Amino acid sequence: MPDDNLPESTPIRVSDNRLVDPLAAVSRRGFLKLAGVSGLAATAGTLSTARSASAASADGTPEQIHLTWGSDPTSEAVVSWASLAPAVNPRISFGTAGRPARIAHAVQRIYTDGINGETVFTYHAALRDLKPGTRYQYEVTADNDSSAKAPFTADFQTAPRGRTRFRWTSYGDLATPNTKWVLSYPQSRFAVEAVERFEPLFHLLNGDLCYANLNPMHQPSVWRDFGNNVQTSAANRPWMPCPGNHEVEFNNGDEGFASYLARYTLPANGTRFPGRWYSFQVSSVLFVSLDANDVIHQDDGSFVAGPHPLVPAPSTGNPPIEPGTSHYVSGYSHGEQTRWLEETLRRASHDHEIDWIVVQMHQDAITSTKNGNGADKGIREAWLPLFDRYGVDLVLCGHDHDYERSYPLRGCNHHAGVDVATGAPVDTLQPRPVTTSEPANGTFDTSHGTIHLILGGGGTSAPLDVYGEDPANGQVQAKVFTRPNRPVPGTTPGTFVRHGANAREDAIWSARRDTGTGYGLAVFDLDPGMPGGKTSITMNYYHAPGADRTPTADYELFETIVLAKTRRG
Ligand SMILES: [Fe+2]
Ligand SMILES: [Fe+2]
Repeated sequence: MPDDNLPESTPIRVSDNRLVDPLAAVSRRGFLKLAGVSGLAATAGTLSTARSASAASADGTPEQIHLTWGSDPTSEAVVSWASLAPAVNPRISFGTAGRPARIAHAVQRIYTDGINGETVFTYHAALRDLKPGTRYQYEVTADNDSSAKAPFTADFQTAPRGRTRFRWTSYGDLATPNTKWVLSYPQSRFAVEAVERFEPLFHLLNGDLCYANLNPMHQPSVWRDFGNNVQTSAANRPWMPCPGNHEVEFNNGDEGFASYLARYTLPANGTRFPGRWYSFQVSSVLFVSLDANDVIHQDDGSFVAGPHPLVPAPSTGNPPIEPGTSHYVSGYSHGEQTRWLEETLRRASHDHEIDWIVVQMHQDAITSTKNGNGADKGIREAWLPLFDRYGVDLVLCGHDHDYERSYPLRGCNHHAGVDVATGAPVDTLQPRPVTTSEPANGTFDTSHGTIHLILGGGGTSAPLDVYGEDPANGQVQAKVFTRPNRPVPGTTPGTFVRHGANAREDAIWSARRDTGTGYGLAVFDLDPGMPGGKTSITMNYYHAPGADRTPTADYELFETIVLAKTRRG
């Protein structure tokens, strides 16, 4: 594929060793504009550029370098990376400025892709006994690092201890900047740089990381392009992911998460399913990251539509995957995740150090996209009652590639939906808003209801920012899966399709939708408040107008909401 439609400066190297840089399409104007609206002193000069890996040397040179929190973000972080061949003595040296460096040796995690047979080498070094609220420098290397004379270095900050102000950011559905891959788009480069410019303590990446499973013969290469793109930010601050439907890959583990789990070391959950779900606390906020693939009805993982089978490389020993096969993992934990969630929320409800509970997951309980996936009754059945009972404040999702915000929700209305085929009543468990007007002072009290945000505008090439409307009354209308949409024969012989959502309902819960673009990111600032007073979270959603047509570095403020409640303790 020719490079002429690709930008020209500050390139990153992609999997086939081409240099790709979406920045050439824009001026520095975008950075300055964004710095202005955010009030931050960020400029282009503060941006770090991910070091490109040398694809030509199959060695232990670290690449795809990224941070995650350990179980306690005030004292533990993990540096993870990959290399093209086994690394010899992979390690981190780290420390604070002016202090002797410590060494953390990395553990190796490898897997062989079950479709193309490529072996992937990943490394994970836990940095422990760190000081809270402290900046650490680190260096990543190995004995066979081709850059050993000038190893990769970066720095990051640990979480503060106690009730302290901090910022986090979030979006899902990122993909890669390499347009060779299905659903990849250069906006994903700008999206990573946008996170960096807002300088959050950490970023929540709400699933559908890179869409490797839509490029089944090239999955490790797609992950590599993703990893080298996010390194621009994720080497400087933790990026905490949850699995989306596009992390579910054929022949890569029971739930298809081998690629995902090899690359991420995430806080322990104490169950038989490490890495799929976890929680961590920063300041007075408990973050709970869930795998909604486990509870949804929709069938949205890997799928062979036909007419030809998907034929794995002979070296894998895996048989052809026949047309009509989908990797449907719903229910895989047999309730273990939901039991863990309830126990986690129950404990938080008794913890006077926790004022806020923020949930991250990929698929949606509420969404009114017209052309995207739709809401899922499985989440409404399994988890919304727990969010109500234990007072979850905020739910951050992706999956539909747009921005939508709900009113605060509690409980549900029954039999408010209809079957799309027959018009017969369907019980969609329609979430019930506690108010249907915007507060005069712009401040919501989430102790009365949970606000859901769809933040699916990372960078993938399929924006979904058109919303459903009921032709009878002009109300916003949503599609809802209330049962599985398993593959059925299509109109072309030998092909299969998965139909869309089977029900619809009026989206009485929908407060705001971005019809201008599918791309953006949410920036959250916690104010812990004073004893006996209020605490608040201010959410600013920045979107990228025009990005549906042309990738852009310009992120502008779309809306601001404030959540406020009485501080506990
Ligand atoms: Fe997606
Ligand atoms: Fe998705």
